[in-house]
Amino acid sequence: MDKEQRIVLTGFMGVGKSTVARFLASLLKCERIDLDTFIEQSEKKTIAEIFKTEGEARYRQIETENLRRILSNGNARIIALGGGAWTIAENRRLIKERNFTTVWLESSFEHCWRNIRLSKRERPLAKNKQHASQLFDERVRFYCLADWHFIIKPDLTSFEIAKKIAEEVFSMKFD
Ligand code: S3P
Repeated sequence: MDKEQRIVLTGFMGVGKSTVARFLASLLKCERIDLDTFIEQSEKKTIAEIFKTEGEARYRQIETENLRRILSNGNARIIALGGGAWTIAENRRLIKERNFTTVWLESSFEHCWRNIRLSKRERPLAKNKQHASQLFDERVRFYCLADWHFIIKPDLTSFEIAKKIAEEVFSMKFD
């Protein structure tokens, strides 16, 4: 196993980045950080509240500030990004500068949308299916820039996806 390898997980809302990151960290026995949770704790507001009171442009600045803090201070080897973070050039630059490998959890829009509908989390950019679908299409060209692409088949559990990443990216062996 490559002890130095550190990864960020990217992909559209609802693809399962946070859950996969949790399983992966437990398989690798390492620290992980969820960027959205980190932002909510450091800002003492939910992401939905930040969007409502300060707007998306300010949210993106806050997101970049927090990502920078995590990348420079944290010991985390696994970071789950929010769905928009990787689409921002400055964030991609910071991630590469810190030598993180980026893994895109790639799936269909319908799969993400189903999970978004089932989730209790309020997602300001996924209130409307048509808008979310357009965002999905616009973002594919950024997600494509990730180092690894993992196709998420709907029948795979988050644990199975984490295991596949551990095997392929971290060269771990399971019986
Ligand atoms: C966003 C995705 C969200 C969160 C914020 C913006 C986006 O994270 O960061 O609502 O722009 O796609 P999840 O991908 O975890 O839902």
